[in-house]
Formats: sequence, C-alpha cells, structure tokens
Amino acid sequence: MKNKILITSALPYANGKVHIGHLAGAYLPADIYTRFQRRKGRDAIHICGTDENGVPITISAEKQGVSPKEIVDRYYKIIKESFEGFGISFDNFSRTSLPAHYKLAQEFFLKLHKKGYISSKTEEQFYCPNCKRFLPDRYVEGTCPYCGYTSARGDQCEKCGRWLEPTMLINPKCKICGSTPILRETKHWYFNLDVFQKRLQEWISEKEHWRDNVKQFVQGWFQEGLRPRAITRDLSWGVPVPLKEARNKVLYVWFDAPIGYISSTIEWAKNKGEPEKWKDYWYSKDTKLVHFIGKDNIIFHAVVWPAILMGMEDYILPDDIPANEFLNMEGGKISTSRNWAVWLDEYLRDFPPDYMRYYLTIIAPETKDSDFKWKEFQERVNTELINAFGNFVNRVLTFVKNYMGNKIPYPESLTENSQQIFMQIEETVDKIDKLIESFQMRKAIKSFMDLADMGNRYYDISAPWKMLKENPENAGNTIYTCCVLIDALADIAEPFIPFSAKRIKKMLGLPFRKWDEIKIPQIKGGEELNRIEILYKKIEDGEIETQIKKLGKEEEMEQKKEYVSIQDFKKMGLRTAKIIGIERVENADKLYKLQIDLGDEKRTLVAGLVKHYTEDELLGKTIVVITNLEPAIIRGIKSEGMLLAASSGEIVSILQPDKDVPSGSEVS
Ligand code: 2FM
Ligand code: ZN
Repeated sequence: MKNKILITSALPYANGKVHIGHLAGAYLPADIYTRFQRRKGRDAIHICGTDENGVPITISAEKQGVSPKEIVDRYYKIIKESFEGFGISFDNFSRTSLPAHYKLAQEFFLKLHKKGYISSKTEEQFYCPNCKRFLPDRYVEGTCPYCGYTSARGDQCEKCGRWLEPTMLINPKCKICGSTPILRETKHWYFNLDVFQKRLQEWISEKEHWRDNVKQFVQGWFQEGLRPRAITRDLSWGVPVPLKEARNKVLYVWFDAPIGYISSTIEWAKNKGEPEKWKDYWYSKDTKLVHFIGKDNIIFHAVVWPAILMGMEDYILPDDIPANEFLNMEGGKISTSRNWAVWLDEYLRDFPPDYMRYYLTIIAPETKDSDFKWKEFQERVNTELINAFGNFVNRVLTFVKNYMGNKIPYPESLTENSQQIFMQIEETVDKIDKLIESFQMRKAIKSFMDLADMGNRYYDISAPWKMLKENPENAGNTIYTCCVLIDALADIAEPFIPFSAKRIKKMLGLPFRKWDEIKIPQIKGGEELNRIEILYKKIEDGEIETQIKKLGKEEEMEQKKEYVSIQDFKKMGLRTAKIIGIERVENADKLYKLQIDLGDEKRTLVAGLVKHYTEDELLGKTIVVITNLEPAIIRGIKSEGMLLAASSGEIVSILQPDKDVPSGSEVS
C-alpha cells in the first residue's frame, strides 16, 4: 500500500457559481474520502482551485460586458466561500490565473514540444465574417455528429460527453452573433496523442479496480484511435503559448487546467514553508493519485492528462479516477443558463450544510444519474438524519443530563446486548472502511445510518426511563452503551457530516479518534457532559415550498435578463427623425398621427401620446425612432416605426438628442 495520497477534485471554471451538481459530482465524495484518510492517519492532501483560463471565461465576460479578470476575481471568491461553507476541507485552493501556474504550464508545453510530442499545423478553422474573428471551440455551436444533440459546443458535446472540434459540428453557428462561420487558415499546435495510445492502453489494462463507466468510455476512444489534438487557441485570455511564432495565441484551457493540480500543490508546499515538499507527492512512486471528477471530464483525466504526464516523464500517473455520473434536479438536467439549479451560496442562507451533505451522499450518482428533489430532501433529512440519528443523540444525552446528574454512568456489568452493540460498531467501522476505499460513499453512509437505527431500537427496547426505578444498574448500563455508540457514531459521521459530528463531540467533551480506534470505547464512565443542544431542526413544508417557488421565479427572472449582442442592438435601426406634421386619429382618444422626416424619406407613425403632449409641443421636435420594425396597421393607418420614450408610472417622456443633429442620424 502506498503511504501518501494526493487527492484532487476537478478545478471548477471561475465563470459562474457552483451548484449541487458540482458538489455531488466531485467535491463532496472527494472531501469524504480525504477526511476518512486523515482519520486513518494517512498522509493525505486534497488539492483544488479555480480554472480561470480560456474560452469559458471569455464567453462569460463578453456576455456580461466585463473583463475576464473581473469575472474570475468575482467567481473565485464566491466559489471558495461556497466550498468553505460546506466544509470541503481542501489543503489548498489555488487559481490558474496566477503567474506560477502560467510558468509551469509553459514549461510543460516547451518540454513536450522539445521532445516532439507537440507539432504545429496550418489548418482551416472557423472564422466569423460578421464578428471578424476566429472562433475557438465554444464560440461555435451546432449539432453533435455523434448523438444529434442540437446545442453541442465546439469543444465537447454536453449530452454524450464526446470531445469535439468545431469543424465536426453539423450546422455550425457563431455563438456571438448567430451567423454561419466560414473556414480560414490559421496555425495551431497539436498534442500528438496518437503516439501514446499503446502505452495508455497497457497502463489502463491494469486498472481493474476502475469504475466501469470510466473504463468503457476510454475503450471507446481507443477503438476509434487517438488523434493529435489542437492545444492552442486564438484568444487573448489565458496562458500565452511560449513560442515567438505563436503571438496572440494561448494554451487550450484543457491543456493547462490539470497542470493546475500541480501548481496548486506547489503553492501549498510554499505556504507550508517547505517549497520542495510537492515533489514528495508528484514525483514519488509511493503516492496514490486520485482524481475526483464528473463524467464529462473522463476523457481529459483518463486519456489526455496521463498522456501529458507520460510525455513529461518524472511525474506519477493517476491511480484512480472515480468519476461520478450526473445529478439531475426535479427530473431535469441541471442547467446554469436556465438557472435550474440549487446554488451552494444560496442554499447556505437557508439550511445547514450537513443536511445537503447527507442527502447528496445517500443519493450519490455513483453508478447512474440520480435526481435531487426538494420534497425528498425534506423527507429523508427529517426521517433519517433528524428522526433516527439526531433524536437518538438528543434522547440519550438529555437523559444523562436529567437523570444521571449529567455524568455518563459507569458500566457495572455489561449485558450481551451491550456486547452486541460494540460488535456492531466494530463491524461497521470495517465495512465503511472498505466502502470508502472503493469510493462507495452511498453504501457507506447507509451503513452509518443502520448503526444509528440500531441504537434507537436498542434504546427503545431497553427502556431506561422505565428501568430507572426498577433496575437502576440496568438503566445505567443502557445509557453507558448508548453513549459509547454515540461517540462512535460521531467519529464515523465525521467524513460525511462533519459539522454535526463536531457538535456531538463537543457535547460529549471527547476528542475525535483515529479510524481504527473507534472500535474500542474511549468512554470509561463518570465523564461529565457539556451543555446539551438540539442537534437539528426539522425542515418545515413551508421552507421547501419557498425553495420550489424560488426555482420557478428565478428561472423567469433569468429569462427576462436575456442579454442581446451589439449586433442585435444594431439590427434595430435606431435613427433620429423630425416631426413635421401632426394630427389626432379620428375616434381614438390617445393617438396622434405623426409625419416624420428621416432625411432621405418621410414616414407616418401612430403614437399614443395625446395624454402626455399637446400637438404644439410635439411639432418640430427631433425624436428617436426604430425604423426597421414591420409596419403595423393601427386604426386603418399604416404606422412605419416606433418612437422611443421613457416611462415611469404616469410620466411619459420622449427621447430627444440634446444637440442638433441632421434628421436620419444613426443612434448607437
Ligand atoms: O469541467 C470543468 O468544470 C473544468 N473546469 C474541469 C477542469 S478539471 C482539471 F483538469 F482542472
Ligand atoms: Zn459572429
């Protein structure tokens, strides 16, 4: 067995907030695994950070009309705080926009280039004649050639997970303006993945313990045959390609992102004051490297990244890649753009982190997709976590406080039932050990719940409240046994629900133990309890209704907030026009019929301004008109445009240029 464990979870893009899909996919199982390994006393570190380069960032920046730097700064902070709020205990959380990361990624590129694993090629690529720019990966969208999904991105199809090139898309469109791009020549650098196929296949053939989903996915790739892949992009944000002839080009984000695992480890070592320490992990055959990811990242972690590492030599290769399937929500795919998600920062305002940690682990999408449902969240948290586990803890500890002078009783002579309980603890500790080692968190947390259930049953059957008078020794034994069980449950619970575990330990006034020590009771009897507090508060129907309502609402809001591009705006054909004639529309108390002069033509417009302006006030004014609306017939009059006005309640005020401009001037 290897002595050190290097655990990573996928670096989230710093272009948006993180949601429960992210949490269930990688960060939560990774945190459970890491916390467990620390309890086992192993030298385990959990490394992560934000993925801040490349097209995902620039697209978000363009959409929101801010700089990429602003985007990554904003979301780095939100993402980091969200994870902290959920108790994801990273040893380091870095950013790939840091100079040290740039430097390392460039070193990787140069070394692979020097060794002949990277070659350049001039090839045709999509160029948008309207936007006048090359369209790297995600700037093109179209139909996936494999599964027919119509909104596939140029780098990867979200539906089937295939890694794509923009030119593979059927019916490609420019993501910014929607026009059909044309092909133009440009030079790029390719990583010669094909060179590594044989070595990769041999390496993976030994990975019998890997999950089926990962192995199958990779086999599909081998069957098709690996091909060189472009690892540079025409973009101004990201790690510059460190070659003179590659001006204005940056590294493909998927080339530099996994290198972020290493640069983050380097940062960790530096912060510890042992700058060379990262090498103990990345260069040591004694380190087990485990990448926690979601299934959309399999190809990069199980094929491309190991090939890069093989090309670099020196470095260790991944030992395991426990990729999770997807978490859906209320029957639908979680979607950032449609705002169909539970955002971690928002959740934390309403509920404790452990509720979500519990529910997401018990429904973890380990072997197939699973579905988050608010109603089920409420039900399972209330009946399992709170009723079974939380109540057991509170019933027993309150009993100690009220009837035992707040001291855990001494075990006089332990009955067979008590011995049974201790055996169950031992068995559960071993069972969960095996389950977590093989990344079966779902079964592991179930075993923990089974043990808590058993405690409840034992307490009920032993009925210490009845025994208190009839047979106080028996009552004392029961309570002692229950306290030992609660202490063990808190230790076992720590990787899964660390906040609850900590509170229980605090009430008991006892420390956390190493995993294998859990099997032996540390309570001797006579220990005084600290202040008892209720562990959990039930989730009310109203709270869940609010969440469900919010979901719908926010989605509407998000739709209203839809962004338009500059091109969309230009399409409106806004121009200035002078009002040269005005009359009331017959039998209509709100409408004027206006004659307007657009410089090169005159038009008629019907406008509902009677309540707000007199004819004299309007005549001769220069206004702003949308000129390319389809004409509308209003009260039998053909209206060829619309004028712009600001309105607030009863006030309506038409827009006018504040200097003299000729009629027909463009408004932009
Ligand atoms: O899919 C994603 O969100 C990527 N940002 C994951 C990167 S993982 C790693 F390689 F950095
Ligand atoms: Zn375009």
